[in-house]
Amino acid sequence: MLTWEDYNQDDTAASAPEPAVVAAAAAAAQSVIEEPSAPAAEATEAEPDLDAMHAAEAAIANIDTAAALEELEIGASRVSVDEKAMINCRADLNQLVPFKYDWAWQKYLDGCANHWMPQEINMTADVATWRSKEGLSEDERRIIMRSLGYFSTADSLVANNLVLGIYRLVTNPECRQYLLRQAFEEAIHTHAYQYCIESLGMDEGEVFNMYREVPSVAKKAAWSISHTHILSDPNFNTGTLESDQQLLRNLIGFYAVTEGIFFYCGFTQILSMGRRNKMTGVAEQFQYILRDESMHLNFGIDVINQIKLENPRLWTPEFKEEVTQMILEGTAIEIEYARDTMPRGVLGMNAAMMEEYLHFIANRRLSQLGLTEQFPGVQNPFPWMSEIMDLRKEKNFFETRVIEYQTGGALSWD
Ligand SMILES: [Fe+2]
Ligand SMILES: [Fe+2]
Repeated sequence: MLTWEDYNQDDTAASAPEPAVVAAAAAAAQSVIEEPSAPAAEATEAEPDLDAMHAAEAAIANIDTAAALEELEIGASRVSVDEKAMINCRADLNQLVPFKYDWAWQKYLDGCANHWMPQEINMTADVATWRSKEGLSEDERRIIMRSLGYFSTADSLVANNLVLGIYRLVTNPECRQYLLRQAFEEAIHTHAYQYCIESLGMDEGEVFNMYREVPSVAKKAAWSISHTHILSDPNFNTGTLESDQQLLRNLIGFYAVTEGIFFYCGFTQILSMGRRNKMTGVAEQFQYILRDESMHLNFGIDVINQIKLENPRLWTPEFKEEVTQMILEGTAIEIEYARDTMPRGVLGMNAAMMEEYLHFIANRRLSQLGLTEQFPGVQNPFPWMSEIMDLRKEKNFFETRVIEYQTGGALSWD
């Protein structure tokens, strides 16, 4: 089991090699030091290979720059703002500027300003609480296990969909710049979950396999995966009504449902635990992740709405009906998860309150997409969640590191 000190004082402690292995390695290193470096000496004394150098020069002289650029589907000319488009764009995607979508570039800058790493959060108190018999109730332990079980693989599903599916098909460089940032943030999130699981000494096989073995977790993962298949086919391309709608389905499935609904029960449960001063390290990791995720969600909604604006023919009444259905399916699956993880009231909440909250969230997603809310009049039973999402950081990177990370262990949960 790793402790906070292991990570911060001695990063070899986790995988200390056997003494025999150390001795063998030391002997090998010594023999390398003692033996003269014959191959290196040979290399410096050898004659240069003139034939190879001439061949390289000839190859460079023969590069036809114009023809190479012509071969790129994206063309070789300077790009004007009017040529840029979210999907099916023929302008050169290697030219970041001039910007068309300033909001995408701003989100990239904001994402970078929010940079954080999991090892910077102190897990010592959590390890003690997790080990002690009285620290947590069985229901609280179940919530932590399920949350880490779902999220430890969910962020990999999101990252894979991003890199293997969406990235190629969103044909705008400033949006791609944000997608690259998001992809790294998803890696940090998976790292954060792994860091919690390892710090607490959980059974890694059990936790990482919950998305296959625990029904309420598996159903969420399966729903997301079902929206990834078509896009991850390297032969899939946009350009027809059907295929452009397929991309929209994927974006809605991942941004509005997976990141916009499936994350909310677990986030609320763990953050509620943190507000009660329990497992504050895990809760702080989740708080930083939630801040990133709310930006992913907002970026995704902006991308979807921009695609709708540029391609109104995609947003047919039938398609709107289908998207509403997707949001309702996601909401129902998340409510099942809430019931499974909270068979009784726990942490000042219960499954019925979570159901109300998820209806509130579903309304929000529908209206963000320009669709009719399906749960009229529903209230938010957890207003403190919105406040946590507004966790502010200064924009200046170096300043924020000092301010945020010095006070990071004392974030207020009120
Ligand atoms: Fe994530
Ligand atoms: Fe995300």
